[in-house]
Amino acid sequence: MNILTLQLGHNASALLVQNGRVTGAISQERFNNIKNSNQFPCDAIDWLLQRAGITYAQLDQVGVCGTMLYPELLSKTHHVRPMYENNKFLYNLYKKMDYAFGQSFLMRLMGRCRRYFLKSVTKRGYNQFVADFKVRGVAPERIKCVDHHLCHAYAPVGFFPKATSDWLVFTADGDGDGTSSTVSTWDGKELKQLAVTSTENSLGYFYGLTTVFMGMKMLEHEYKVMGLAAYAKEEYFKDVYDKIFKDIVRFDEENPLVFKSSFPLTRAMEHLKKHASCCVRFDNLAGALQHFLEVVVLQWVQNAIKETGITQVMTSGGLFMNVKLNKMIRELPEITAVRFMPSCGDETNPFGAAYALCRDAGVELEPVQTLYQGQSYSDDEIEIFLNAHPARDKFSFEKKENIKETIADLLSKRKVVARFAGRAEFGARSLGNRAILAHPADMESFFTVNDQIKVRDFWMPFAPTILDVDAPRYIENPKQADAPYMIDAFDTTEEGRTALRAALHQADKSVRPQILKREANSEYYDLIKAFKEKSKIGAIMNTSFNLHGYPLASNLDQAIFTMQNSDLEYLALESWLVTKKAAA
Ligand SMILES: [Fe+2]
Repeated sequence: MNILTLQLGHNASALLVQNGRVTGAISQERFNNIKNSNQFPCDAIDWLLQRAGITYAQLDQVGVCGTMLYPELLSKTHHVRPMYENNKFLYNLYKKMDYAFGQSFLMRLMGRCRRYFLKSVTKRGYNQFVADFKVRGVAPERIKCVDHHLCHAYAPVGFFPKATSDWLVFTADGDGDGTSSTVSTWDGKELKQLAVTSTENSLGYFYGLTTVFMGMKMLEHEYKVMGLAAYAKEEYFKDVYDKIFKDIVRFDEENPLVFKSSFPLTRAMEHLKKHASCCVRFDNLAGALQHFLEVVVLQWVQNAIKETGITQVMTSGGLFMNVKLNKMIRELPEITAVRFMPSCGDETNPFGAAYALCRDAGVELEPVQTLYQGQSYSDDEIEIFLNAHPARDKFSFEKKENIKETIADLLSKRKVVARFAGRAEFGARSLGNRAILAHPADMESFFTVNDQIKVRDFWMPFAPTILDVDAPRYIENPKQADAPYMIDAFDTTEEGRTALRAALHQADKSVRPQILKREANSEYYDLIKAFKEKSKIGAIMNTSFNLHGYPLASNLDQAIFTMQNSDLEYLALESWLVTKKAAA
């Protein structure tokens, strides 16, 4: 049985399940090179079907993540804003009136009209989608829409090993199908929803709008605010927190798992303009916002534990990309186990939709567990590509007997090397196969990567990949939590603060590690082991192989493009070592 699931809109992505096994997952951004692209994932679908050797007509089911299918989600080009916002005058007028008149009768009436309008718009989108797929041989009855937050909730359920005991499942994001968070229980058989919070009370939206208020991009730069927050000291941000954030969210009196805000959080800009426009330092604002998020979400989790007695927690949805928040959840004394969905923004919703469709079809989905779901290339393909490349005279290349040894040797000599090997990682984080690697203790390498290759904001940290056997040397992990996906943060030990000097957060010395087991990626594991033999450090610095603002370089063109447009000197393409001529 072939099941295709699609995330449309922000970071559009596609996933294919064949006979109960995920055989590939990829985002459209990897084809058009636009980060988080919202172009309809036509290239992603074509790639998946081609790789599997099947056609549209052989798809038994197609799952769409979300029930509100706006026509612009089917656009074959990347677009900036939804079509219904294209009439700027009307849209801005509506927003201004919304700020000014709040919950008045007039605005409630306008809200109703807007919802009616959106319903008819999304119905049109759905009909268009069905018609497009019918032309390709997929009958309408094979298409199913799965609620956005149900996708988020099912994503970790299907990704991690089958649950044999009770878990709490939290989802939280800006908005999806009119919802911003849910709480459910999962006993390995049934997902029972206990609470739903609407978009008006969205913590994710509020965090995103504060990111915009600080001059950065919503749905993209929230991690920068989180990174900045660690530089703020509580004694300085406390007043900001008290004044701007403290009392804006409480819990529903009838259901302590539902958020209630003192004003619609979708109107956060007004609140911030009023209270934070002057005399509030940017780092203190970031610190106070992060503190607010942690206080509210920890209370939420604790409320759920109290209500259910369940102490194992799964999380999913963009809000939980916040690794500092995840760290605090894991550290709660009452929590006994955590499963943070990796790359848990909307891009992993196809994993959840896949689980939902398999379940409905009576197919058991094999726990996915790996994000290495993208493109791969053989040494022969790479040789042909390099020989034919238009910039062939700008680099030399040589096939190495043992490329792992070569990379380890360069790293130990404090060189920076990009590694391109095996199947590309799905999602937001590099897990070693499309990675820029460096010596984890070497601050020179830190500056080389930051200033000359990635050109990132100065306050943003890098992260390490640590061999499982060496993790106790470098990180504090009393609960022995697994951390294979860079979705969780840890404090460092004294040895960690030295060995991982360049791969930790420079303000609070925490790390967001990939703790690597050999069975997860043996080639990468052996490379780090080879580096350890030379340096005595069982870890390396690993950052995603891309230029600032670009998605992960997944194909060969993007790999060479990244090298050509940065100061990167060495690129290991499978067994081939490509060296920039100036560095040779
Ligand atoms: Fe979402």
